[in-house]
Amino acid sequence: MAPHILAFAGSTRTNSFNKRLIKIAVAGARAAGADVTLIDLRDYPLPLYDGDLEEREGLPANGRKLKDLFLAHQGLLISAPEYNSSITAVLKNTIDWVSRPVPGEAPLNCFDGKVVALMSASPGALGGLRCLVHVRAILQNIRVLTIPEQVAVSNASEAFTADGSLKDAKQQAAVEALGAKLTHLLSRLHG
Ligand SMILES: Cc1cc2nc3c(=O)[nH]c(=O)nc-3n(C[C@H](O)[C@H](O)[C@H](O)COP(=O)(O)O)c2cc1C
Repeated sequence: MAPHILAFAGSTRTNSFNKRLIKIAVAGARAAGADVTLIDLRDYPLPLYDGDLEEREGLPANGRKLKDLFLAHQGLLISAPEYNSSITAVLKNTIDWVSRPVPGEAPLNCFDGKVVALMSASPGALGGLRCLVHVRAILQNIRVLTIPEQVAVSNASEAFTADGSLKDAKQQAAVEALGAKLTHLLSRLHG
């Protein structure tokens, strides 16, 4: 069976560089045989996590939808923008809501045993590298296996062609390879 991968960027911005980057990794995963669901977090708006709200109303409907998506996929492809040297609020808030157990659910059920490949793009010189350190640590601590390879695309405002590829052919291949590597790993784990 083809490995199932859920892919998204940690940005809601229409012209997001990370939304462009994730599409390249998705193409690499699909070419390697994965069944990929690419989502836009803009389509799943969530309130800021609030314990009182959760106690009163439970998991918001979009949190439930995201949780079901996580449960239905074995792998994750995430392109994570860097804000103030770290993870964006929208990505952290998504992780926080999805991590909350619904009644009868085991803790961290929808992260446990998942495998993730990470990448980032930024107009800055480091390409979001510092954020990847934080995202990696967060995901590892909630039982997600993170593959060692990653790509950080610097100078992102100049890095893409009009058709959405990366101008640097080596970098394009490296991002496609991230998707392929995740697919092959999942095939070996779940094949
Ligand atoms: C609040 C804020 C903080 C930012 N901090 C950083 C930063 O620390 N490092 C960096 O490389 N870019 C930083 N940026 C620039 C983002 O990388 C840039 O807005 C990028 O386009 C966001 O990703 P996106 O294009 O996928 O939305 C910051 C942007 C915002 C809005």
